[in-house]
Amino acid sequence: MKPLLLLSLLYFFHEVKTDSVNNRPIIGVLAQEQSWYLHTKYPEENYRSYIAASYVKDVEAAGARVVPIMIGRDRAYYADLMSKINGVLIPGGATYFNQSNGYADAGQHIYELAMELNDAGDYFPIFGTCLGFELLLILASGRGEPENRITCYSYDNLPLDFTADFRDSKMFRDADEDVIEILATQNVTVNAHQFCIIDENLISHNLTEDWRVTSYGDDYYGVQFIASVENNRYPFYGVQFHPEKNAFEWKLNKNHPSDKLAIKANRYFMDFFVDECRKSFHAFASADEENQYLIYNYQAHFTGVLGSAFHECYLFEPRGTVA
Ligand SMILES: *[C@@H]1O[C@H](CO)[C@@H](O)[C@H](O)[C@H]1NC(C)=O
Ligand SMILES: *[C@@H]1O[C@H](CO)[C@@H](O)[C@H](O)[C@H]1NC(C)=O
Ligand SMILES: *[C@@H]1O[C@H](CO)[C@@H](O)[C@H](O)[C@H]1NC(C)=O
Repeated sequence: MKPLLLLSLLYFFHEVKTDSVNNRPIIGVLAQEQSWYLHTKYPEENYRSYIAASYVKDVEAAGARVVPIMIGRDRAYYADLMSKINGVLIPGGATYFNQSNGYADAGQHIYELAMELNDAGDYFPIFGTCLGFELLLILASGRGEPENRITCYSYDNLPLDFTADFRDSKMFRDADEDVIEILATQNVTVNAHQFCIIDENLISHNLTEDWRVTSYGDDYYGVQFIASVENNRYPFYGVQFHPEKNAFEWKLNKNHPSDKLAIKANRYFMDFFVDECRKSFHAFASADEENQYLIYNYQAHFTGVLGSAFHECYLFEPRGTVA
């Protein structure tokens, strides 16, 4: 082959690779401190942490695989893992941000490392749901006392009250009109929070330049809380509601809307996020290495039958006896 042809072929393949997308994305999902309730159900095992399987399923349904990210590790662990995966989902839940070596510390490593990666020209997305969304904005505020969020209360299924220019946002600019129509008019987003972030939280910590609010909801007492947000500089996104619950959580008294329209509209969020992660080309060294990290190494427990609000959970790092 003529050298020039070889050169242009190499150039062609290089272009194809950089212009294309990663259709085998692997997403890290962050664990959190074991819940008090789950601990009462597994006292002997004394698990250190858990992930509600609904988050994993919601990511998988969008065409990605999941690697669990443990809490309580040093920064090198998070940096190493993030060099191999294509984005991180920080789930909701119920834990405090003031405990050391927990969810908030892990989230802080991930947030800071992701900014470094993106600043260096890499593309590394983060999505925070509910508590994970609050954590992103508290990290942006500087984690401190008092925490930059307020108490408010919503366990309602709500429509999204979109901002005037939400259609210009990264999160919603490519959304189909029928999905937007459902989100804007039907009670389909599942809320389960006792804290929230309001406009004043962004204003008081100078976050309005970096963070764009795209929708709001109203709590039980008429407080208008931020329902969805994105960072203008980084591919960081957050929602106060729970898109993973509609299709994958079934506790009877919770009444999560699981009709066809609610499922369709809530699918949008992980479909969007996983598509963001397809822009990342981080990879494990080999399929063998991938296999050592993937969540398929763990078995989900049927915790719904034990009364948990989570239908299935992954439970990690037993400190006691596992039967
Ligand atoms: C963390 O915050 C909670 C709620 O404000 C409080 O009850 C708890 O004592 C705090 N823990 C630490 C270690 O400061
Ligand atoms: C949504 O819920 C509110 C409050 O319960 C209710 O007034 C409204 O009719 C509901 N909207 C739809 C479209 O069901
Ligand atoms: C916000 O920005 C203003 C003006 O630059 C500055 O005076 C203030 O200290 C900043 N506040 C915070 C919480 O960073």
